[in-house]
Amino acid sequence: MLGGLLFFNFIRYPEITMDIDATREKALRELETADTEDSLAAWHGVYLGRKGEITMILRSLGEKSLNEKKDLGPKAQSLKRDLEAAYVRKEKNLKGAADAHRRIDLTMPGTRPEVGHCHPLMKTISDIRRIFGNMGFATVEGPELETETYNFDKLNFPKNHPARDMQDTLWVSAPKGLLMRTHTSPVQARYMEKNLPPFQIIVPGRVFRNEATDSSHEANFYQFEGLMVGTDVSLGNFKWIIGEFSRQFFEKDVDLRFRPSFFPFTEPSVEIDMRIGNGPWLEMMGGGMVHPNVFEAVGYDPKGVQGFAFGGGLDRWAMAKYGIPDVRLFYGNDARFLRQF
Ligand code: DAH
Repeated sequence: MLGGLLFFNFIRYPEITMDIDATREKALRELETADTEDSLAAWHGVYLGRKGEITMILRSLGEKSLNEKKDLGPKAQSLKRDLEAAYVRKEKNLKGAADAHRRIDLTMPGTRPEVGHCHPLMKTISDIRRIFGNMGFATVEGPELETETYNFDKLNFPKNHPARDMQDTLWVSAPKGLLMRTHTSPVQARYMEKNLPPFQIIVPGRVFRNEATDSSHEANFYQFEGLMVGTDVSLGNFKWIIGEFSRQFFEKDVDLRFRPSFFPFTEPSVEIDMRIGNGPWLEMMGGGMVHPNVFEAVGYDPKGVQGFAFGGGLDRWAMAKYGIPDVRLFYGNDARFLRQF
């Protein structure tokens, strides 16, 4: 009997910690760091294997008193269930991650991230700058809030010219004499007052008209002005430059037609029509040889200089290039429209 007891003591299982909560915490913490199949299998061996800690705890219960069994039994069982569930979850996660990894097909095209788009009018401005820039034209800008002097007087508009009327021009109520420029032409006068020929400039910019809007009219739109002045700049030079610009801008063959016209600041004046491919004739810009009165107004000697000027509706050029049917689309901020450029 005594020997039996001794024998029993001898084969006792190694001292097992019966702090169930501490064991749970330690096991779960270690499971957290098992992120390969191998380390997960090792963890399983340590805790749930045939010689694992949990197995040992359950087995050692056999030698506890009835009271201890009642207390520790259910706790040990629930620890076992919890660790098994945690193990199954972890195994699933690892397998899922491995599958996802395997599912990446490197031969598939990537997903294009959505980036910003250049507004078609800004794109048109940069095309104009680039093409004229290659022909030696500098880009110049001027104020949108203008004086009557620059917008009209220095450009040889008579005092009673109808364009000065309230109906066409947006006048600023105070101070008097200020208006929203109706065209980019005032920049001609501003530039010439500060610079001497020879020069060639291009002036893209926003202009304003007191106008009702429809598919081809906006109260505010863009123009681009050109001015080339020297001692012998001719209408022939003008025709060549406009032809060259148009072909480069549309990247197509373009027919041009110069029609006699009238502007106060040019003499002679022309209206330039354009046909792209087999399309209809479109009125694309006005121009002509700078009027001697304009040269005089900026302090040049009209006998010593000559040059050409032109001005076109930038929106119209963009509409013709991209096939846009309504000028108001440029100003509607509709992302579905803008995303196409
Ligand atoms: N400023 C004119 C307009 O707004 C366009 C224009 C015509 C500009 C002839 C010029 C030019 O420089 O020479 O309609």
